[in-house]
Amino acid sequence: MVNKMWAVCVVVVLALNLWCNIGARAAPQVPCYFIFGDSLVDNGNNNQLQSLARADYLPYGIDFGGPTGRFSNGKTTVDVVAELLGFDDYIPPYATARGQDILKGVNFASAAAGIREETGRQLGGRITFSGQVKNYQSVVSQVVNFLGDEDQAANYLGKCIYSVGLGSNDYLNNYFMPQFYSTGNQFTPEEYATSLIQDYSQQLRGKPQVREPQVPCFFIFGDSVSDNGNNNLLPTLAKVNYSPYGVDFPQGPTGRFCNGRNIVDVLAELLGFENYIPPFAYANGSEIVEGVNYASGAAGIRKESGRQLGARISMGEQLKNHRTTVLRIIDILGKRSLAKKHLNKCLYSVGMGSNDYINNYFLPQYYQTSKKYTLEEYAEVLIKQYTQQILRLRKYGARKVSLVGLGLIGCTPDAIKTYGTNGSSCVEKLNNASQQFNQKLVALVDELNTNFTDSKFIYVNSYEMGSGDPTLVGFKVLDAGCCEVDQYGQCAPNKTPCQNRTDYVFWDGFHPSEASNLITASRTYSAYNASDAYPMDISHLVQLQLEPQVTAI
Ligand SMILES: *[C@@H]1O[C@H](CO)[C@@H](O)[C@H](O)[C@H]1NC(C)=O
Ligand SMILES: *[C@@H]1O[C@H](CO)[C@@H](O)[C@H](O)[C@H]1NC(C)=O
Ligand SMILES: *[C@@H]1O[C@H](CO)[C@@H](O)[C@H](O)[C@H]1NC(C)=O
Ligand SMILES: *[C@@H]1O[C@H](CO)[C@@H](O)[C@H](O)[C@H]1NC(C)=O
Ligand SMILES: *[C@@H]1O[C@H](CO)[C@@H](O)[C@H](O)[C@H]1NC(C)=O
Ligand SMILES: *[C@@H]1O[C@H](CO)[C@@H](O)[C@H](O)[C@H]1NC(C)=O
Repeated sequence: MVNKMWAVCVVVVLALNLWCNIGARAAPQVPCYFIFGDSLVDNGNNNQLQSLARADYLPYGIDFGGPTGRFSNGKTTVDVVAELLGFDDYIPPYATARGQDILKGVNFASAAAGIREETGRQLGGRITFSGQVKNYQSVVSQVVNFLGDEDQAANYLGKCIYSVGLGSNDYLNNYFMPQFYSTGNQFTPEEYATSLIQDYSQQLRGKPQVREPQVPCFFIFGDSVSDNGNNNLLPTLAKVNYSPYGVDFPQGPTGRFCNGRNIVDVLAELLGFENYIPPFAYANGSEIVEGVNYASGAAGIRKESGRQLGARISMGEQLKNHRTTVLRIIDILGKRSLAKKHLNKCLYSVGMGSNDYINNYFLPQYYQTSKKYTLEEYAEVLIKQYTQQILRLRKYGARKVSLVGLGLIGCTPDAIKTYGTNGSSCVEKLNNASQQFNQKLVALVDELNTNFTDSKFIYVNSYEMGSGDPTLVGFKVLDAGCCEVDQYGQCAPNKTPCQNRTDYVFWDGFHPSEASNLITASRTYSAYNASDAYPMDISHLVQLQLEPQVTAI
């Protein structure tokens, strides 16, 4: 009897199975499938990134019906797994997944990505594991919206399959590339594996490390390249708190001379700050203990530079403002000695000099300097004044100082339009002026480091970083800004800018696009090669344990 019952059951089960298989297509075995990884499973997430790690062209996809971004001639392993799980379609890439599509899962994988943030950096844009986890969090919020509440979403997501595969690039595009990364020197193979697994485990547990910034505060002195709103309240032509500036910045136009983040914004991120460093013009509370940005468009080392454009805050005045901040920090921390300790540990970025050329020396109709000085003498005079200003900054407690050299001021669309290139690709006399200034700045860095063993000054080689072939990192437009410019080389208000902004080196007539800034900031923070920053890059500068100078107390 028992046996017979068994037999009946078996027959029924077989029949059910059969019926299922020939009937309507089976539902997948899980409601959703989420994928995290690198190029082995990327299915298009890098297509919109400025990256060398892209596969959105033939012969990739030749057996798939065309290129999709998959790094294969056909399907990837997760495509096949999706089929075996019973999904009708492949899991969509995060980059293009829209609407209810996300309910069956999303593929977050990105070629060149690793467990470590910096991994794959030399290839350009990529979505690191922490970025993929962030994107997952955004998908979770959408799932909550679709399903009505968090409990339902948690219940639903608990039934999904998650595939996570990272780590190869942390070796191939990090540890074993000593020309780009320092991990090979920092860790033995054993230590590196341990450190990777630690990071991996933290991310998998959904506990992104709450990282303290690497320095307690970040102070910024400079011109329009770093200005983030200090000119907004001034009567000047050098102010851009209007659209389309800020089109790619979360808060829209802020006074930044860029479509998105400035170099110092990206540096603040790399240093681990949660917020961007506030402009002096608006920073009135205790937020100043994390740093202040004093930069002002049109400002120079010399007080008169940029005068023909209207008001601006020269380097001398930026230092006066810093003195105000120092007094406020003493107030906030309660003790002069505490404030001094705090200020000693901070990072100071100083980038000045461009306007002393383009808005002074090379405008003989407004300024006398070119009549008074040869170019060589002028560089000497500028550096002499700059030295006094830097020493004053040191007096206010600065010990770790990044001095940003001049870039290729002769290669901006505006310079080329104004001066012509006489057969070269850029305006030679402007670039030559930059180089003369830079040579003396490097010598000053050496002198300061010799004289002050309790401090470290570095030179950031903007000129070198601007000198490579931009098309090699994916830029397509080198000689025109992305927006329609007015007679001052600034974006005309409220005109629609170009769509593909990551294709452009320049945003307006003078200023680099956010895409350029990302590369410059990344190289300033962590040099691609030895000539990017001298004698070290910012990632090393901030780790330095400086000895107190042996002097009387
Ligand atoms: C700082 O300025 C903002 C507006 O810019 C104002 O709302 C705020 O009350 C000010 N805070 C202090 C402490 O003065
Ligand atoms: C233009 O180039 C020619 C040939 O190289 C050179 O002789 C001349 O001085 C240049 N002119 C200017 C204004 O730089
Ligand atoms: C720029 O410098 C180069 C190399 O020193 C020199 O050959 C060239 O004549 C200079 N050009 C101008 C326009 O000053
Ligand atoms: C460095 O020290 C030398 C010798 O004492 C001095 O002549 C020079 O002015 C100092 N330079 C700076 C930048 O402090
Ligand atoms: C550093 O990189 C730049 C651009 O990528 C290149 O032009 C230069 O030759 C490199 N320098 C060294 C010393 O490798
Ligand atoms: C911008 O992108 C579109 C579509 O990808 C392309 O057709 C166009 O040529 C691009 N424009 C520039 C200036 O690169």
